[in-house]
This record gives sequence, structure tokens and C-alpha cells, in this order.
Amino acid sequence: MAAWRVLARELEVYRRRTPRSAALREAARAVLPGGNNRSSIFLQPYPVYVTEGSGCRLTDLDGHTYMDFGNNYTAAILGHAHPAVVAALTAQARRGASFAAPTAAEVTLARLLCERVPGLEQVRFTNSGTEATLMACRAARAFTGKSAIAKFEGGYHGSHEHAEVSVAPTLDRAGPPDAPAAVPSNPAIPEGVVRDVLVLPYNNAEASIRLIQANRDRLAAVIVEPVLGAAGMIPAKPEFLRTLRSVTQECGILLIFDEVISFRVAPGGAQGLTGIRPDLTTLGKIIGGGLPVGAFGGRADIMALFDPSGGSPRVAHAGTFNGNPMTLEAGAATLRELTPAVYEGLGALGHRLRLGAQKALEEAGLTGCVTGVESLFSLHFAPPPVTDYRAAARGDREALQAAVVMLLNRGIMLVPKGSGCISTPMGEAEVDAFLAAFREVSSLLATG
Ligand SMILES: Cc1ncc(COP(=O)(O)O)c(C=O)c1O
Repeated sequence: MAAWRVLARELEVYRRRTPRSAALREAARAVLPGGNNRSSIFLQPYPVYVTEGSGCRLTDLDGHTYMDFGNNYTAAILGHAHPAVVAALTAQARRGASFAAPTAAEVTLARLLCERVPGLEQVRFTNSGTEATLMACRAARAFTGKSAIAKFEGGYHGSHEHAEVSVAPTLDRAGPPDAPAAVPSNPAIPEGVVRDVLVLPYNNAEASIRLIQANRDRLAAVIVEPVLGAAGMIPAKPEFLRTLRSVTQECGILLIFDEVISFRVAPGGAQGLTGIRPDLTTLGKIIGGGLPVGAFGGRADIMALFDPSGGSPRVAHAGTFNGNPMTLEAGAATLRELTPAVYEGLGALGHRLRLGAQKALEEAGLTGCVTGVESLFSLHFAPPPVTDYRAAARGDREALQAAVVMLLNRGIMLVPKGSGCISTPMGEAEVDAFLAAFREVSSLLATG
């Protein structure tokens, strides 16, 4: 597969199609570093600038439309500008955007979440998933009196210090597969923080048990994504999650499920699907209806850390826009649309897409596989099975970049890492359009 040749050809097409995006990116360079404001959406040579989203379609500055399988990194589960969300936002905008006082919206959305997610007895709202995982780790340290956090290699929990360790380490620095090194993602992560992060191998129960038991005296929490998102939508084996539940319980360590992405898989998230109940849960993305959001919650005895009733709380958690009613009204409107039948429909379309894309790779004779679960999927040009970060990291990056650009040129948008998901405005026609484009992309990649 001569991916570079295909990529060069497709980049020429891309540049020809998107002169207005290219020009705006050039202008942006003067005021935004590299013209970029969000590392995860940068695409070489530049991303397309979006002017509008409606249902499952986006329009760019040059007037092209795309079927949006990127869905703002899984957040846009109802697609864009869903009438129920627009109505909720419009009504709240008329009543005022945010106040230094609580509103009924926070009680409503908290109830909706606690009813659905088995591990949520109580919850607090933040403005991002980053803040949610930061606060969950902080709660675990305060509750247990221990300072270290265990996370999985390739796991992404946002952009705070403890989270930015071994997110995407180069394999030459990653250490042994069954005892991964803690590799800071950038030079700003303090050595003390790196020492306080234990890195575990995903989907490897045996090694994880050994490492957790050996570090039981210093570990406050183990944080895990039930679907390893940023590494390429890699589902955890239920048995692996069950093992984490029992070993953390046995060692007096809290188990945090980061369900910022996996809350998409079922009304109660991955914990609803598997019946495994963590001590704390973090949420984000879909629960804000497209607005900035995060939430963390869990056992009431842990969440009591934040209770101010007796004077000041043991752990304070302020934030000018925490629980602002714009976000929470949009979130509640979204959750009300998400009935069990809707989740089933999303999952069936995800299944159709994964099967079809896998078949396209095989028919073209390409080395690759499609991971994911329910409405989530990710393309890998790596030998199957891809069950952890290292297997994904061994994939052909050039082929992946080529596939993403080729799909864009054919009116299909993924996120730059080659992941995507289904939104409710999509049906079989959209999935089949994706598959037709992907069959063409695969055969072009195979023939170079
Ligand atoms: C599993 C997971 N946790 C946390 C985050 C951070 O969320 P945010 O981007 O809202 O800060 C993300 C973002 O992609 C995520 O995928």
C-alpha cells in the first residue's frame, strides 16, 4: 500500500476544494498559534471551517456539505440544531444565561442522570470532561487520604496534569507491555505528578491486578474508560472491568469509570450495560446537548466531601459557569430524546457500519480493522485484534490520514484520528453512503 502517493493526490484535491478554509486558516495564524485553538481538531494541512450544522450534515466555508460522523468527538448525539435543543436554549436565553444562584435546571438534569446511571447517587456539574475527571481524582484523594492515581496507557481523561501521562507515548519510551512507563505528554507536567501516576495496560487483567496490588498503599483511585476513546474506540472486555472492580474493592482503592464517551452506549452508560458499579463516574459530551459540560458523581458518602451544609465543604468546588442553565436545559432536552429504543437504533447502525467497513478493508486486501461498540467506531490500519493502545499505535498513520482526507473529499467527516459515531438523524442511507465511500477509499489505498 503506497499511502503517501494516494495522500499526495488527495491533498491536492482537498486544497483545490477548500480555498476559503485555507485562507481563513492563514489569517488565523496571526492571532491563534498555528491558526489552531483545539489540538484535537487539527488536520494537516488545515481543517475545513464549518459555517453551519443541521441534523447530520455540516456545511463548510466553501459551500460543501458533509455527513458528520465526527459529531464533535461523540458529543452531538442528536446531530446539530435539534428542534428540542434549540427550543430549550431559546427559552432559557430569554430567561437569562447564568446567575450566581442555582436554578431548577440543575435539579432536573441531576435527577435524570441519577435515575439512569446505576453508580450515580449524587452528582455535580462542571464545564468540561477535563474538570470532571480532575474533580473525581481530587475527591478520591481527599476520601482515601492517598495521593496516587492509576490510569491506563492510551487513556484520555482531558487536559489536566494527572491525566496527561501516557496518553499517546511513542512505543520506544513506553516501557514493558505488562508494566508500562509513566510518560508525560508534554514538558509542563511536574515530575511529582508523574511519580503519582501509575500506568496500567488496558484489557490486561493479570498485569493490572499485580500492579494495583503492589501499589495499594499509595493509590487513591483507578480511573478507566470503559471504551478507550482517543486510542481508537477500543472496548474494555467486561471480565477486565469486573477484575478492576474486585481488586480495587479488595485494596481500598476507588474505581472511577470515565464515561465521558461511553455514556453513549446505553441509557445507563457502560455500567448500565455491564452491571459493574464504580465508586465514582465522570460524564460530559452528550449530557450538555452540544454546550460545554462535564459532571462527576457517585457514592453519596464520597460526594459528601462537597456538602457545604455544615459551614464550608471539606473540598470546595466553585466555577462561575458550573451548572449554568443554558447547558443544563440543553442537556435535559437531549436526554429526554434518548429513549432505550433510540439507543438500540444507534447501536444497530453502528453495527452495520463496523461490519461493512471491516468487509471493505478485507475485500481490498488491506491490513486493518474497525473497532467500536454500539454507536461508536474507529478505523485502524493495524493488524487485528486491536485491544489496547499499543496495537493501535502500530497502525499505518499515513494510510489513516489518507483515509480521513479521502473521505472528506467524498463528503464524509470523521475526526482526524479516524474515529466516528452515529447520530440520531442518521439512518441506513447515511451508513450505506459512508460504506460506499469507504469501499472506494479502501480500493484506492490498496492500489496506490
Ligand atoms: C473519556 C474522556 N474523558 C475526558 C475528556 C475530556 O473532556 P473535555 O474535552 O470536555 O474536557 C474526554 C474528551 O474527549 C474524553 O474522551
